[in-house]
Amino acid sequence: MHVKMRFSNMNSKTIQDQITYQKTVINENLRYFKPSTVKKQKTFLDEITLSLNNIPRSINPKFFYDNTGSKLFDEICSLPEYYLYNSEIEILNNIKKEIKLHIDSEIRLVELGSGSSIKTRILLDTLYNLQTSVEYFPIDISDILSFSTKELCNIYNDLKITGIIDTYENGLNFIEDYDNKPNLISFLGSSFGNFNHLEGSQFLKTISDMMKESDLFLIGFDLKKDKSILQNAYNDSKGITAKFNLNVLKRINTELNADFDLTKFSHHSVYNELDGRIEMYLKSLCAQTVKIPDVNIPINLLKDELIHTENSYKFSIPQIESKLEDADIGIKKIWCDSRNYFALVLGQKI
Ligand SMILES: C[S@@+](CC[C@H](N)C(=O)[O-])C[C@H]1O[C@@H](n2cnc3c(N)ncnc32)[C@H](O)[C@@H]1O
Repeated sequence: MHVKMRFSNMNSKTIQDQITYQKTVINENLRYFKPSTVKKQKTFLDEITLSLNNIPRSINPKFFYDNTGSKLFDEICSLPEYYLYNSEIEILNNIKKEIKLHIDSEIRLVELGSGSSIKTRILLDTLYNLQTSVEYFPIDISDILSFSTKELCNIYNDLKITGIIDTYENGLNFIEDYDNKPNLISFLGSSFGNFNHLEGSQFLKTISDMMKESDLFLIGFDLKKDKSILQNAYNDSKGITAKFNLNVLKRINTELNADFDLTKFSHHSVYNELDGRIEMYLKSLCAQTVKIPDVNIPINLLKDELIHTENSYKFSIPQIESKLEDADIGIKKIWCDSRNYFALVLGQKI
């Protein structure tokens, strides 16, 4: 079945903003919406071609997450060096009782970048303590959503899931137009840190503009800390982060028939103290030419040339406070883990 999404604010949107979604119904509790494959492929080809031909070259981190990339990210989360995962889990477990005090008994959980929805289970358990019927709207660009939601259905027999396999922005538009029920919008895993400062501020404003007074926003931020702890987290000893980084080239080969030779690239990541961010790159180990057949522009890489694949910004508490305030999001509570490595913030539209 094809569903044409219409947006409430049609005046400020062009006709191209209407997205054709395919609706898949798995059972009475689980359905998900996905944009038509043709559109998705075109976006991937267009964006990759543009960003690989612009100097400095880059690949948007949202393209890391094909099925292999999503599995590799889950492996990263199990690494001792990747403190982000355990720190956030610790906070979520600690705030179970307290967060209930802020939650409306009607609220539904919306999750941006839900991935394998493991941490989500802590939030779902909290909602089940308050409500007889729980609704969950995961939004993720990766097809991992179709697997992780099936697993959730096995755990929570009556959980009502509506998944949106699309970008954060399109998922938020979907939610905004959906109904007037209050939403707890969660954005976990420090994914916010992938935006640069301007994009991040705009994204927070987009969220605050679409939020109703009854909505809540729960967002994770990785905190500034010792440089060696940060660098180790993105240069793990088992080389899983390197595999994750290189996998994006494999994905471009598979989906766009490009001819990247993965043995001629290496993973490179470094903490840029001045800008407060981990920078991740793929380094070309020799001078080489790569071709994507649907585009007639060869990509000529120099020896040691870097392809930027991800920034992961780290924040101080005052930076977090001012970012949210600038976006008209009032802070209800900030929680940190026992090592002060990570912060979870609960906010509401001012
Ligand atoms: C770093 S993982 C975090 C997963 C999970 N929330 C956690 O905390 O462990 C980021 C997730 O966001 C998704 N993602 C990345 N960029 C996205 C985008 N622009 N729009 C929608 N989803 C995106 C990825 O597919 C991935 O599942």
